[in-house]
Amino acid sequence: MAAENIVLIGFMGSGKSSIGRLIASKLRYRFVDTDQLVVSGTGMEISELFRLHGEAHFRDEERRALESLKNETRHVIATGGGIVTRLENRPALLELGFVVWLSANEDTIFERISRNTKRPLLQTPNPRETIANLLAERMPLYKSVAHFTIDTSTQSHNAIAEAVIAEGRRFFLRPESSTME
Ligand code: S3P
Repeated sequence: MAAENIVLIGFMGSGKSSIGRLIASKLRYRFVDTDQLVVSGTGMEISELFRLHGEAHFRDEERRALESLKNETRHVIATGGGIVTRLENRPALLELGFVVWLSANEDTIFERISRNTKRPLLQTPNPRETIANLLAERMPLYKSVAHFTIDTSTQSHNAIAEAVIAEGRRFFLRPESSTME
């Protein structure tokens, strides 16, 4: 049986942290972010980890962060955009609870993240093309893991949070699951 958590997956810039915090405050759940767990666990910023140890090492730390959550309940869990790329993370996400893909179209993502220089994977000569390639690779993975998908390109954060909560209630009210308040 899945634990009673809401797990947010989706590309960089899809709003996982801000929408996740809003959902957590509405439900009085705790909010946790796998990137933050990696930073606190390693004592290094994500960009520094990538620079000094490479992406594979970051993915190991991200995997460890996800594992550390397996006994939690009543949490909103925001995840890094690449978490679905590791095969073993996909069943682990599903074990954690209700998995929601916050989707966004390429233009919206580009608009939201092009001004931010903190994301190591986008430090390329053509970030727009990098986004398009990563999106093409990851969209089927997000889709395969998600119980529920919601487009964040046009709706307000509040409307998205309310929709996720409503679907979450339905999900946890299924007879085989526990119940959300
Ligand atoms: C990554 C997304 C980032 C962070 C790291 C790698 C990715 O998280 O985990 O820079 O591979 O898409 P956000 O999705 O929170 O930006």
